[in-house]
Amino acid sequence: MGVHDVLEIEGGRPLKGEIKVRGAKNFVSKAMVAALLGGGESVLRNVPQIRDVEIVADLLRAHGVAVDWDPVEGIVKMDPSGVGAAKSADIITHAGSSRVPILFCGPLLHRIGEAFIPDLGGCNIGGRPIDYHLEAMRLFGAEVHKEPDGVRLRAPRRLQGMQMELAYPSVGATEQLLLTAVLAEGVTELRGGATEPEILDLVAVLQQMGAIISLETDRTYRIEGVDSLRGYHHMALPDRIEAASWAGAALATGGDITVLGARQLDLTTYLNYFRKVGGRFDVTDHGIRFWHPGGPLKAIAVETGVHPGFMTDWQQPFVVALTQATGLSIIHETVYEQRFGFTKALNRMGAQIQLYRECLGGQKCRFGRRNYEHSAVVSGPTPLHAADIRVPDLRGGFSHLIAAMAAKGKSSVAGIDLIDRGYEHFAEKLEALGAGFKRL
Ligand code: EPU
Repeated sequence: MGVHDVLEIEGGRPLKGEIKVRGAKNFVSKAMVAALLGGGESVLRNVPQIRDVEIVADLLRAHGVAVDWDPVEGIVKMDPSGVGAAKSADIITHAGSSRVPILFCGPLLHRIGEAFIPDLGGCNIGGRPIDYHLEAMRLFGAEVHKEPDGVRLRAPRRLQGMQMELAYPSVGATEQLLLTAVLAEGVTELRGGATEPEILDLVAVLQQMGAIISLETDRTYRIEGVDSLRGYHHMALPDRIEAASWAGAALATGGDITVLGARQLDLTTYLNYFRKVGGRFDVTDHGIRFWHPGGPLKAIAVETGVHPGFMTDWQQPFVVALTQATGLSIIHETVYEQRFGFTKALNRMGAQIQLYRECLGGQKCRFGRRNYEHSAVVSGPTPLHAADIRVPDLRGGFSHLIAAMAAKGKSSVAGIDLIDRGYEHFAEKLEALGAGFKRL
């Protein structure tokens, strides 16, 4: 726990004003890994100042990549010409801090023939296995060995194109295949891949580098391996999770927030639900204004899913807003089996959220009859009252902040260092929106 790890929040005021979002956390970190594949310097713009970027920058440096990051301008320059094996200790320090290290497999095997991946971190929202990743690497021809602190991989010869069908359209596994197939010998075919905008932006980066990747309407990626790639210059797509988080904050607090940098195209599904609940929005050339028009909000049913569905990462701040809607709202979480842990604290604040093991929705889901509380019924509206909370994970944590902002009285929210992992300058943004709080 850091020194400034607790926020004392005086809630009950609407959040109003203008803030800006920069590049997407779940793209920027991957584009940084892609820089390893280039023969020359890559330049990434619109990079947010968040801890996940620091972690990937450190890991790149540990492998001999020269990384020059200007956090104010949001520009990262990466020169991989000195790439080499890292000391295990420099890698292990990052164990448990992020999911991104797993994506170093392919690029490192291509560049130096071996890779060591520390035990992974990321939010504790389900088992989060890496079986698809390791299976893919074996199919490319890598040797994979589990060691006490991580996984060691070796490429006895150039990796070979392969065919794989994902049992579930995993974002990370799709990226793993793309990052590896581009330099593998021959053609790789990935069936059942994920198609999130962050992944398509990674495809754009790889294409700039010289890769040949096509995507069919049935989620099949076909990648024709090439012998070498060059560096890229790219502007990261905006963070649509952060944008939706602030939209949720506007709705939950009865506020009015303009999110500069937010892009409608990446938020189409979210905006449909935002409107159905009774929120209002205006799209401008510079961003999207989200506001609560006054009067009651409407309860709705929503199921999370892979793109173009309702993102699992939009769910948590949205649930806080649903506690203020009239009637019963139903949320069926189909991406992660344990992503409702954050609702416990909301209930302590006066919300009425009941969790169910059953699938409360028609979408095909892997968690029905497996004893996971992955559906929620929110009964509202319930005024929220202040409480002392410890944040459980990144998105759940942000939703707790919003709940405390909406609640009358003084709340204390501990563990907010976690939020720095993915929300750039969130305390400054809260201040700009007129929130009443102190960082202790
Ligand atoms: N899965 C497997 N085996 C695997 C990989 C995934 O069973 O080898 C399962 C997972 O357990 C999960 C599902 O597939 O149930 C989806 O996981 P996915 O691989 O798509 O997730 P991820 O790549 O680990 C990224 C984001 C998450 C986001 C998900 C879904 C990053 C660094 N993380 O995770 O973001 O929720 O995609 O969109 O890109 C966050 O930002 O807070 C966050 C958790």
